[in-house]
Amino acid sequence: MIVVYDSLTGNTKKAAEKLGMKTKKINSYENDDDEKVFLMTRSQGFGEVPITTLEFLNKYSKRVVGVAVSGNKNWGKNFGKAGRIIESKYNIPLVCIFEGIGFDQEIKKIKDFLLRSI
Ligand SMILES: Cc1cc2nc3c(=O)[nH]c(=O)nc-3n(C[C@H](O)[C@H](O)[C@H](O)COP(=O)(O)O)c2cc1C
Repeated sequence: MIVVYDSLTGNTKKAAEKLGMKTKKINSYENDDDEKVFLMTRSQGFGEVPITTLEFLNKYSKRVVGVAVSGNKNWGKNFGKAGRIIESKYNIPLVCIFEGIGFDQEIKKIKDFLLRSI
C-alpha cells in the first residue's frame, strides 16, 4: 500500500506523513507496479477536485482503495466536497474529510481504514 497525496500548500502532505506509511507526491507517482493506493487530496474553489487528482484518477482509479480529503469548514456546504465527488464519480470509498493537516481523531480513522485494507 502506498499513500499518494495531492497537496498545494502542504496540509495534505503533512496529514499523509502522519500515517507512518510510504508516501508519494501525486505527480511523481509512476505506473511501476500494481500496488494498492490510498489517495489523499484537497478541495479547491467551490468544492472542486484538483485537476492533478482528476488526471491521476483517470489513469489509476482502479487501484485506489479509499480517499481522504483535506478542506476548511469556512467553505460551508463545500467543505471537503471533492471527496463526495470522487466517491460518486469513481466509486471509491470516502474514508474521511478532515480539516487542514487533520486532527488526531481524523488521522486515526484513516489509519484504522488502512489497517483493514492492507
Ligand atoms: C482558492 C481556495 C479554494 C478552496 N476551496 C475549498 C472548498 O471549496 N472546500 C474546502 O473544504 N476547502 C477549500 N479550500 C481549503 C483547502 O482545501 C484547505 O486549505 C486544504 O487544507 C489545502 O490543502 P493543501 O495544503 O494540501 O493544499 C480552498 C482553499 C483555497 C486556497
